[in-house]
Amino acid sequence: MKDLTGKTAFVTGGASGIGLGMARVFARAGMNVIVADLRRDHLDEAEAVLRADGVSARVRLMQLDVTDRTAYAAAADEAERAFGKVHLLCNNAGIGLARSIGQASYADWDWAVDINLNAIFTGVHLFLPRIRRHGEGGHIVNTASMAGILQYSGAGIYVTTKFAVVGFSEALRAELAPEGIGVSAFCPGGVRSNIRDYEKTRPERFAVTQEGGTAAPGPGFSFNEADRARLASLTASPEEAGELVLQGIRDNALYIFTAPEFRPGIEERFAAIQRAIGHDEAREQAALDLIPNLVGSPIYREA
Ligand SMILES: NC(=O)c1ccc[n+]([C@@H]2O[C@H](COP(=O)([O-])OP(=O)(O)OC[C@H]3O[C@@H](n4cnc5c(N)ncnc54)[C@H](O)[C@@H]3O)[C@@H](O)[C@H]2O)c1
Repeated sequence: MKDLTGKTAFVTGGASGIGLGMARVFARAGMNVIVADLRRDHLDEAEAVLRADGVSARVRLMQLDVTDRTAYAAAADEAERAFGKVHLLCNNAGIGLARSIGQASYADWDWAVDINLNAIFTGVHLFLPRIRRHGEGGHIVNTASMAGILQYSGAGIYVTTKFAVVGFSEALRAELAPEGIGVSAFCPGGVRSNIRDYEKTRPERFAVTQEGGTAAPGPGFSFNEADRARLASLTASPEEAGELVLQGIRDNALYIFTAPEFRPGIEERFAAIQRAIGHDEAREQAALDLIPNLVGSPIYREA
């Protein structure tokens, strides 16, 4: 989508951090925006911010738990009642559950997968038919993370969900390309937000582990003062992240990144894969003739 003026965006987790950054940038660019979020306090704060931006007339805020499929379907209906058509879905709600796989409980796993991955499918399942129906084109942005491209130890569940979001986005992009509906995997590095507050929203059904104990809070990260200052210089603001997403939509970018400092890690990872797979020109050519979609997918070349 090149011309976004007058189009409508639905942003999950839109009342805080990156989601609010996107909402502000989209509204300032002349889009209608639905801000959907679980937390009432975040919605109230976002409402004040968006009012101060002078964009309230183009914004609707709604309380939504993206893991509740019935409520999500009702929210999609409400979005269409408010603005007629939805063109852009930003599957952004997520929890930064920073726990190693070895320490995690069933509850940790189920909760993170429910929000970070399952809800992304729910969003697509609900909005894709609506985007197809109006026929004006559309775009879907799935917020993964740098942790969707590079693992970091101590956060194995998070890493697993975010890698899945990248794969989901690539597959969906290939599926929807013939229909002119774009898909981007958004992989931010550090962005200032409330992501460490995730335990505040842990629902009752995931509170007690199946092992019988109470799920312990995640360890979080520990940095000294000097590290913290250096880290701040590498951390983007939510609005900067939102601007990069807006540009990514206009360019129909497959990947949207915020943090070039991760490039060496990406190069190392792909070099390791290349070393492991080896190289056999005759086999590669034979496979390209048989299964070009998998061996050399056009979605990587287009991006
Ligand atoms: N901040 C970063 O550095 C960073 C880096 C990489 C990826 N991300 C990803 O960005 C996305 C947004 O995170 P953020 O950093 O802005 O954090 P944030 O906590 O500031 O915002 C997330 C919002 O999602 C909402 N939310 C949580 N569970 C929900 C649910 N079940 N239904 C609806 N809304 C729900 C929260 O209430 C919150 O307002 C997440 O997917 C996160 O994994 C963040």
